[in-house]
Amino acid sequence: MFGKRKHTPQIDKDQLEILENAQRRVKQKKRLYLHFVLFLIGSVFLIIANTFLGIGKDITFFGKEWFVFAIIIWFFLLIYHVFNVFVTHKFMGKAWEQKQLEKLVSKQQERIEKLKANLVQEETLKLEREDLAEIQPKPTKKKSELTIIVAAAENNAIGKGNQLIWHLSDDLKRFKALTNAHHIIMGRKTFESFPKPLPNRTHVVITRQADYKVPDGVIVVNNLEDAIDASRNDVQPFIIGGGQIYEQALNLADKIELTRVHHDFEADTFFPEIDHSIWKETQNTFHQKDDNHDFEFSFITYERKL
Ligand SMILES: NC(=O)c1ccc[n+]([C@@H]2O[C@H](COP(=O)([O-])OP(=O)(O)OC[C@H]3O[C@@H](n4cnc5c(N)ncnc54)[C@H](OP(=O)(O)O)[C@@H]3O)[C@@H](O)[C@H]2O)c1
Repeated sequence: MFGKRKHTPQIDKDQLEILENAQRRVKQKKRLYLHFVLFLIGSVFLIIANTFLGIGKDITFFGKEWFVFAIIIWFFLLIYHVFNVFVTHKFMGKAWEQKQLEKLVSKQQERIEKLKANLVQEETLKLEREDLAEIQPKPTKKKSELTIIVAAAENNAIGKGNQLIWHLSDDLKRFKALTNAHHIIMGRKTFESFPKPLPNRTHVVITRQADYKVPDGVIVVNNLEDAIDASRNDVQPFIIGGGQIYEQALNLADKIELTRVHHDFEADTFFPEIDHSIWKETQNTFHQKDDNHDFEFSFITYERKL
């Protein structure tokens, strides 16, 4: 579409010089080889011409036939050629090689100088960054992950008459597994909806009543902030309801473990709407309706974006 690009050779001056020199050497050696072959054929021809064909049979020097001297002179010429190729040109080649080597060394030295300069610059920058990092306060990692755990219908219904509306055994199992050995923070009404405290969990009950009586081991506080403070040594305290406490905790929580029951229910208590600009869904597992579960439901995890 855009036509052929003009081809520009990517070879530089020095490389070209190396190439030309190599080609020259090959040609010199080829010529020498040809000369040697010609010498052999020529010598045989001179011997035959003189001995068998009788050419210049009467010409002799110092009592020897002329072809002997012709061959000797040619032989010396050949020796001179050999000397030229392997000694004279080799010495010339050495001088050239030396020049190339010097050029290469000076180029490498230039590069080393540049690298050294870059290294010094990088070191200075690194030190500056380290100094800056020391001055700047380090972000402190949050100690615990406050997690809301809730089962809510499609219309956000969560309870009626201070009771849960449905029975989903897998949801209860998940609740037990996730909250096991943790603090569970709840409103007074939710606490009263249990027949007795749940085993192996630390209950934190929120009430405005001054003398609210609870079994041993249950912590009573008068507001949500105190409940969170009472759970500060837990890596993952859970807010387990009900409606009033969820409403207040949604702004403070880091995570929501929601069981979304795919059905609408009549209710008197509801979970607040989840704002998707604040909460990011990170996990979602769907469960079919079956003999133990009257409704379809999904386990959904949300994490706070901001
Ligand atoms: N589906 C679920 O996952 C789920 C989970 C839990 C509960 N639930 C349901 O939710 C319903 C109960 O929820 P709910 O909203 O009625 O009650 P709740 O939130 O459990 O408890 C409300 C009580 O908590 C205390 N409280 C609330 N805010 C307070 C504050 N800022 N400071 C001090 N005390 C405070 C008050 O106790 P005092 O009146 O004693 O002062 C208030 O009456 C039930 O139907 C239950 O089954 C559903």
